[in-house]
Amino acid sequence: MESKKFSLLFLRAKLARPGALLLAVGLILFAAHAADNTLVRNQFTPGQIWHDTAGQPINAHGGGILFHKGIYYWYGEAKSGRTFLPDCNKSWGGTRVDVTGVSCYSSTNLYNWKNEGLVLRAEPKSPEHDLHTSKVLERPKVIYNRATKEFVMWMHVDSQDYAAARTGVAVSTKPTGPFRYLESFRPDAGVWPDNATDNEKKPGATNTFARDFQKGQMARDLTVFVDDDGKAYLFYASEENATMHVSLLTPDYHHTAGKYARIFIGRSMEAPAVFKRAGKYYIIASGCTAWAPNAARMGVADSILGPWRELTNPCVGNDADKTFFAQSAFVLPVPGRENFFVFLADRWNQWNLPESRYVWLPLEFSATGDAVLSWRDAWQLPDSNQSLRAAAQN
Ligand code: GAL
Repeated sequence: MESKKFSLLFLRAKLARPGALLLAVGLILFAAHAADNTLVRNQFTPGQIWHDTAGQPINAHGGGILFHKGIYYWYGEAKSGRTFLPDCNKSWGGTRVDVTGVSCYSSTNLYNWKNEGLVLRAEPKSPEHDLHTSKVLERPKVIYNRATKEFVMWMHVDSQDYAAARTGVAVSTKPTGPFRYLESFRPDAGVWPDNATDNEKKPGATNTFARDFQKGQMARDLTVFVDDDGKAYLFYASEENATMHVSLLTPDYHHTAGKYARIFIGRSMEAPAVFKRAGKYYIIASGCTAWAPNAARMGVADSILGPWRELTNPCVGNDADKTFFAQSAFVLPVPGRENFFVFLADRWNQWNLPESRYVWLPLEFSATGDAVLSWRDAWQLPDSNQSLRAAAQN
């Protein structure tokens, strides 16, 4: 009893000192924060730090989601370490981090994500390797090949100055890897696009895709899309980022098949995210302003190789012209919730790239079929019998 009284007095005396008080408040705040990191989540909070089930910030940028046997897998760029400032001697003026690899997280409900580790690793000892630390690895996307039972990862690999502009491919027998890197290449070497005119194909033609005819087409920001019939397609910013291409993949999904089209010619679109709704194909993309946000672009087509028709920016409300300070990465159709899509985007922090955040928003369709993206501070997936609009207002 005496000793309890003594310690209480002692504590009171300690707390009376401002330094000790601050310390106590700090400890309480730290404890509350640590608890919050590991909270089980039941809502999305776009733009906030998103912790995994171990309480660490999720590190999966420019990513995409694969749904396989009841589990969602989120793959993305693992960005860590120092952000390097622009090298003024190069034509490229953006910041960068060293390549570490591709991360993977798994979830059964899209809110709570378990870190599955790096499923494709950088190759720090091989300066010539596409995955060497000094190079660029962006926008990894994984698709599942039902025929070969293989998981195939496509990614943008590049030289530090972004001049190489190539696609890289890696494969795994398990969604959680490890993925085996196959190669990189420029798509569709020696093949003309389906929709090139005779004039554009004439010997001596000076257009960009004719220039790159022999060595293959430039490929930077990309995504892959698997259609209902199992055919897969690669969408990528090509022709110095001025024009997007869509290429059919080979049946094993390891390569482009030599059939492709030019879409959104001269519109300088990148960060493509492709999905299908009610028999039509949709794309959401961005303009080309490096890490800085701009107004989202959208397009629709009846046939995946086109023609594609450009729609207006689906974002509405404040900061719609900046896509809510984010850039498209993926659109996820949520299984079991018909007609419900989640728009996944990156809010880049160009001066500290690992601090970049995620902006996930519900993608709604109006009665007339127009897509709408509006900002939410917090929102939940609709129950299967609840309308999205009602759920999104939660
Ligand atoms: C963006 C692109 C990103 C990354 C960045 C580099 O335009 O979408 O994936 O390449 O430029 O600045």
